[in-house]
Amino acid sequence: MKRIRKAIFPVAGLGTRFLPATKAMPKEMLTVVDRPLIQHVVDEAREAGIEHFIFVTGRNKGVIEDHFDRAYELEATLEARNKTAELEALLRELPGAGQTSFTRQQSPLGLGHAVWCARDIVGDEPFAVVLPDVLVHNKPGCLAQMIEAANKLGEKANIIAVEEVPMERVHMYGVVGVGERNGKSFAITEMVEKPPREKAPSNLSITGRYILQPEIFKILETQPRGAGGEIQLTDGMVTLAKTQPFHGVEFEGRSHDCGSKIGFLVANVAYGLARDDISVEFRAEIKALLGEK
Ligand code: G1P
Repeated sequence: MKRIRKAIFPVAGLGTRFLPATKAMPKEMLTVVDRPLIQHVVDEAREAGIEHFIFVTGRNKGVIEDHFDRAYELEATLEARNKTAELEALLRELPGAGQTSFTRQQSPLGLGHAVWCARDIVGDEPFAVVLPDVLVHNKPGCLAQMIEAANKLGEKANIIAVEEVPMERVHMYGVVGVGERNGKSFAITEMVEKPPREKAPSNLSITGRYILQPEIFKILETQPRGAGGEIQLTDGMVTLAKTQPFHGVEFEGRSHDCGSKIGFLVANVAYGLARDDISVEFRAEIKALLGEK
């Protein structure tokens, strides 16, 4: 497959599940330990070799743009205070000139519509979609694992990260049907967005990471509204699957659904416990907290 150079990050959602935290601040700026969610997923994409980061934003999301820009006052202050390590980290993590694009989804019409809004920036090449609500805790990251799988597949393949969820939760996700297996990947036989339990083809849910062919854009252009009254990416993929293969990848690592309060809190604990600089003290604090109950 052609090299995957571009990734779309849909960041236009309102984040109503986190009010009032998200009243004046985008949900993508909520932090897991000391990094905003959006930074975690951009890190994952960078590690996977992505060179161009496309953000589909909405109203009140300007701070995301600032986050990926230089911050001259802050840099000058850090320099004056000899905080060299912090300054170097800030500069190292900054995407290079011309490596970010921002476009707006003017109305909240759904994930499929958000992806379609990036069509002109992506152009005619395969690309990744990364949902910032979902963090996958692993090295190599989920997207790197998918790109590795993509390199073993044909030119026009589409790839979706999937993982098992309990049957009583399948109605919250896109769900895939499983065909022939080949190592860690398998042929996807069907895809359904948020099916009731009895209509779910399996308990493998779509985990918020996609590698898609550009032909999806033409389909999304006329995609009618689906589940929840929204233009669904999954429905567009169902149409594309009639002419191109789709593969599922059961990735290594555990995902955290940071769009839910529990998932977000658990992610903070998991990432905190994995951090060399704070893990010992953090573990002791958690133990003490639990011991009190
Ligand atoms: C979206 C997708 C769904 C996927 C989920 C992963 O749903 O439409 O297929 O399983 O992300 O988090 P949303 O969570 O935006 O409703």
